[in-house]
Amino acid sequence: MPVLSEPVAIEIASSSGSYNIEIGDALLDRELAQTGECLFIVDAFLAPRFAALGIDAITLKAVEETKSLDHMSALIEAIKQRGATRQTTLVGVGGGVVQDCVTFAASVYMRGVPWVYVPTTLLSMVDSCIGGKSSINVGPFKNIIGTFHPPKCVVIDPLLAETLDAEARAAGLCEAVKICICRGPEAFDAYIALDAKPQGSTDSFASIAELCLSAKKWFIEIDEFDRKERLVLNFGHTFGHAMEAASHFAISHGIAVGLGMLAALRLGEELGLTQRSDPRVQAFEAHVRGLVASVQGVAEALRGCQIDELMQAFSADKKHSRSELAVILINNQGAVERIMLPRNEHTLAQIAGTFAGLISGF
Ligand SMILES: NC(=O)c1ccc[n+]([C@@H]2O[C@H](COP(=O)([O-])OP(=O)(O)OC[C@H]3O[C@@H](n4cnc5c(N)ncnc54)[C@H](O)[C@@H]3O)[C@@H](O)[C@H]2O)c1
Ligand SMILES: [Zn+2]
Repeated sequence: MPVLSEPVAIEIASSSGSYNIEIGDALLDRELAQTGECLFIVDAFLAPRFAALGIDAITLKAVEETKSLDHMSALIEAIKQRGATRQTTLVGVGGGVVQDCVTFAASVYMRGVPWVYVPTTLLSMVDSCIGGKSSINVGPFKNIIGTFHPPKCVVIDPLLAETLDAEARAAGLCEAVKICICRGPEAFDAYIALDAKPQGSTDSFASIAELCLSAKKWFIEIDEFDRKERLVLNFGHTFGHAMEAASHFAISHGIAVGLGMLAALRLGEELGLTQRSDPRVQAFEAHVRGLVASVQGVAEALRGCQIDELMQAFSADKKHSRSELAVILINNQGAVERIMLPRNEHTLAQIAGTFAGLISGF
């Protein structure tokens, strides 16, 4: 047996107590050997691994429909049918879809049960695994309801990234660089120094996860409930969610966030804020562009998006108010900042122009 190094541990403070993140090879095997009262809820991709061990896990298909409110009752029935009590720990093993479903179910089942998360996509390893948010879709509205319910611990096993395809790796890196640019020049330079690339090793992903989660820790500890500082982590998301929706989810979440950040650079420049000639902004733009352009079919999916559908989805985002549109841009100091623009015809035309420019320039 290979000798495994000690896991890296990062502690996160939250209003419901602190919890640990551990990062280390083969940690999933350690979780599977636990004997406590727990119920596994796992991505269908990993179901054979659990079946081979004789574990009666609930399996979820990692598609957007799974994280709909309609589907939640079936999940909660399955949890009850397997005899889960208030003492049962739910263990979610999967990407962001499994995470959203298990966070939500754990937060409402018997008014709240503990849960453990084992992220399996790069996106969930570097970003979504901490913060305690669940986001559930209702009808056509993505991520429109949710809860805060931090896990008991997060267990990151970088070896799980071995089976991810190139798109899932690029998507994870889009969210990774987002966190680092939001945190500031030091974190961004440290990210660039790691030479992150989709074809990187699982060791490199472990280092990226450690950097990103340490950077994200600052935001979620200072603003657990997404009221102020943490809001900038939505960089790329309002434009991105619109592209996910208008492409009918042909563009995956992380890649849409990458495209969303490119759109934000355009809008920021038009508003006289973003200095696209700044060396850090240039390095950021080149990295993100390289990531999204490495994914087959993105340009076609983008060209298939209708401006009116993009605008409808953009305008419906929950981060806007009735009178103002929230946009997250790089300001003229090179920092990521949330800015409110008046919700009027002029702003809407600027946003539509941003989408059109991004599509034609891609
Ligand atoms: N709650 C949050 O804080 C938060 C944050 C970001 C994103 N999200 C949500 O997460 C979702 C996207 O999540 P995601 O990108 O992590 O992936 P995902 O859960 O959508 O899964 C994507 C694909 O990867 C497969 N997969 C998972 N692990 C694998 C592995 N180890 N090897 C090979 N294939 C694997 C899945 O079966 C699926 O086909 C979106 O719904 C997004 O809204 C939530
Ligand atoms: Zn995201």
